[in-house]
Amino acid sequence: MDKSGNGKRENWGSRFGFIMAAAGSAVGLGNIWRFPYMTGENGGGAFIVLYLVCVLVICLSVMIAEFAVGRRTSLAAVGAYKTIDNRWTFAGVLGVISAFFIMGFYPVVGGWAFAYIVKSFSGLLSSAVPIGDVFGAFISNPIQPIFWMIIFLAVNVIIVAKGISGGIEKAGKILMPTLFVLLILISIRSITLPGAGAGLEFLFKPKFDVVNGQTVLAALGQAFFSLSLGMGCMITYGSYLDKKEDLTKSALLVTMMDTGVAILAGVAIFPALFAFGMEPAVGPGLVFVVVPSIFAEMGGIGAVFSVLFFIALMVAALTSSVSLLEVVVAYLIDQKNMERKKAVIVTGAIMTFTSILSSLSMGLMSGVKLFGVGFFDFFDILTDKIFLAIGGMLLAIFVGWFMKKEDLKDELTNGGTIKFGLFEIWYNLIKYVIPVAIAIVAIMGIRSIEQ
Ligand code: PHE
Repeated sequence: MDKSGNGKRENWGSRFGFIMAAAGSAVGLGNIWRFPYMTGENGGGAFIVLYLVCVLVICLSVMIAEFAVGRRTSLAAVGAYKTIDNRWTFAGVLGVISAFFIMGFYPVVGGWAFAYIVKSFSGLLSSAVPIGDVFGAFISNPIQPIFWMIIFLAVNVIIVAKGISGGIEKAGKILMPTLFVLLILISIRSITLPGAGAGLEFLFKPKFDVVNGQTVLAALGQAFFSLSLGMGCMITYGSYLDKKEDLTKSALLVTMMDTGVAILAGVAIFPALFAFGMEPAVGPGLVFVVVPSIFAEMGGIGAVFSVLFFIALMVAALTSSVSLLEVVVAYLIDQKNMERKKAVIVTGAIMTFTSILSSLSMGLMSGVKLFGVGFFDFFDILTDKIFLAIGGMLLAIFVGWFMKKEDLKDELTNGGTIKFGLFEIWYNLIKYVIPVAIAIVAIMGIRSIEQ
């Protein structure tokens, strides 16, 4: 990249920083914890094919659009909508609400990862109790997971109070590649276990007879969640982007990294799962049970790998959750004139409360239901199946019908300095195809849930 030999490097440096921040937001629990268990619950290969179609046809274009809106206005989500057309402020506010709801359960799982770092040290892998039972007992305990969740949230609060750019970025730059390398190592181990072939078949031989409206909605929701789309997060990141950066290329890179990590997590987990004779549809415990089981097979060194894995998972979760917290905090600062510290503390307190409810819904409060599900599932389903997809649909309608085509062309081609021959295709996708596609998937999904 350094063509001139002086000065130019800085440019590359900022680009790298942006890509890492956006990829840091995207790559998180969604890829390593959620993607595998959604795949397991939705029949394997067919779900992955649907997921990839959603990413390619819908989410990639939505990401480009979010970057474009952010960079055009240089404002975070709510402000961005508001300046372009103030009737659309609600769409930004919907994103802030989504961030709140996601942070109603995300810190609970972040806390599990935190706890598993310590548990890996203290005999989880060699315990006489089956690893699956350890997990079940842990998450339903009324105190322990709440303790770890609060630590996880406290780290978020400290980071966001200081502004995101400091330590977390550095930690991310080291630990994200570590996570990647570990996933590759785990995958190799997993594939070479006797009986692993069934897992690969489960992942890569799609059986479409298991697909219904719900599967498609689950795939779409997962794609939005995993890519941090449909709630203004990528609008906010786009607002920091330099006018010279190529939006399309950046979106493509982030999407490829995110999808790569998700697929890799699947390859790490399913071959081992089948080799151990476990059930693919075990739900949220999947990564916390299968990965330690793989490491337990390795003897003493396994504990070291396990510690490393959960540190990396926790940091991946952290680089995502700070972006969620920041969406709410930026809103309070920009629109409500709140001081950063105060905004962070108020937001953190509310999230602690909702996360306590979510954590307790795994045990003590498992009988308390909202619309037939516990708090954890309620927050999860509400965002992943409804809010994010609707947020994405609103964004597409807004960009396609309420922004000027020339302005968009200007953003996507950097004022005509780069060629974006696919512009018309992107524009028509955003304007016509994506809003209709999301509406159809949402209606089909909701109808098949009712049945
Ligand atoms: N993409 C993150 C993950 O995969 C979660 C997230 C969703 C972050 C929405 C920001 C906005 O874990």
